[in-house]
Amino acid sequence: MTDPVVIAVDGPAASGKGTLARRLAAELGYAYLDTGLLYRAVGLALIRAGLSPADQKAAIHAAAVFDAAAEDFSDPALRNEETGAAAGIVAVIPAVRDALIGVQRRFAANPPGGAPGAVLDGRDIGTVICPDADYKLFVEADIEERARRRVKELQDRGDAVIPARVLKEMKERDERDRTRAVAPLAPAADASVVNTTNLNADAAFALAMSLIR
Ligand code: C5P
Repeated sequence: MTDPVVIAVDGPAASGKGTLARRLAAELGYAYLDTGLLYRAVGLALIRAGLSPADQKAAIHAAAVFDAAAEDFSDPALRNEETGAAAGIVAVIPAVRDALIGVQRRFAANPPGGAPGAVLDGRDIGTVICPDADYKLFVEADIEERARRRVKELQDRGDAVIPARVLKEMKERDERDRTRAVAPLAPAADASVVNTTNLNADAAFALAMSLIR
């Protein structure tokens, strides 16, 4: 048995990393893990318990008892903006991050369904979770373009949207992700940067495939 191939796809919110990672996994027959959902699940557990995501003790407990096998990842509440903001707040807590490392590394080492590889997307996959990944992509785009994409995504879902607020909250989350002490959002030294500001999903995918091949 050869080790599974691991592709790390990191980048800020709405950079296109999720779309790209999912498509790479489908093309290559690899398993896909959206690691943002793990932090979102912890944030949502606090919201649902009526607790503040800034409540460190509660966040650490929620991460410690988090069970990926029992989680309903199709719950739409995981994907809303309030949950995303809560995820960004719990994600600065080192003990929360530590509690979620195992599930991510196990996924990469033993991709579900016996897949020959795994694609993980997040913020610290290439730097912390899988520093030995076979391929590392860092997907980014200008903040205005990312906010525009997020507004469209929310509108398509029928959510009420205030574009200026989406931009402001995205800037805040970016800042928190980039400046936190543990596992800040940053390209790994050996990552290839894919800037999607002027690329549609097809062009970003073609570029990523050319980098991998
Ligand atoms: O990618 P997504 O927007 O779902 O991530 C939500 C939040 O979870 C991010 O803003 C970030 O703070 C945190 N996160 C992280 N490390 C990851 C994935 C997500 O810190 N690998």
